[in-house]
Amino acid sequence: LSLSLGLDAPFAVESHDSIDSTNRRARELAEDGAEEVVVVADAQTGARGRLDRSWEAPPGGVYLSLVVRPDVPIRDAPLFTLAAAVATARAAREQGVDAHIKWPNDVVVPRGTTASRTESDDVVAPRDETRYAKLAGILTEMQGEADRVGWLVVGIGVNAEVTAEGLPDGATSVRAETGAVDRRAFVQRLLSEFDALRADLDAVVPAWRELALTLGQRVRVETPGGEVVGEAVDVERPGTLVVRRDDGETVRVSAGDCEHLRP
Ligand code: BTN
Repeated sequence: LSLSLGLDAPFAVESHDSIDSTNRRARELAEDGAEEVVVVADAQTGARGRLDRSWEAPPGGVYLSLVVRPDVPIRDAPLFTLAAAVATARAAREQGVDAHIKWPNDVVVPRGTTASRTESDDVVAPRDETRYAKLAGILTEMQGEADRVGWLVVGIGVNAEVTAEGLPDGATSVRAETGAVDRRAFVQRLLSEFDALRADLDAVVPAWRELALTLGQRVRVETPGGEVVGEAVDVERPGTLVVRRDDGETVRVSAGDCEHLRP
């Protein structure tokens, strides 16, 4: 399978059946001066996730890393990660998946409060604990000078055709949700949505809000300054989560982990 075949993308495509990490390769290309390139792989052997975690990338995924050089200040860099989440969720929706975004950039499928998982998963999570299953994750890496972005590598990992047995706990795939996936159409849509959003950065946060699962939910966010617990009330440019604490005070969180609490 070569995803590059017939892809009408606004990026040059470098396609691999298997690679250690598309982000690693994209960074190498970026450091060599490349731009407007997307590295796509069917499987990865050493993929990386956020917060120094590894990322399972068995065959059947859509794993891609974009190299872009936007002429923007570093403070706007998170908009590209949000744009990637919106693009991924929209591409998944086109395939029939009820995709939403969990702040800051996980693409998830809501599971409701009874925490049912994928049908063939025999592990049933405790009631109210799993309220979504993860479809895709995004890892953005950046190089900048002074306050301007030099390059961005936006890495997107989507469980596309991965079967339910191949998925880690708490994860789902396009195939597990719908029974089928058109990978070429998925990548095509993802890239064109991302391309349109990066050209209109003011549209990113409103588009993100429309797909957000987090807003209106109770959240617990680990921050360097301690834990913030309350209701997620909004996301502001460039991706700051606004939380209303139980004591009524409003706190803004710029990045980090966000977990749902039991009601
Ligand atoms: C997360 O932790 O949720 C982010 C996961 C990002 C994984 C993708 S797969 C394509 C790209 N290459 C990598 O090594 N990581 C990202």
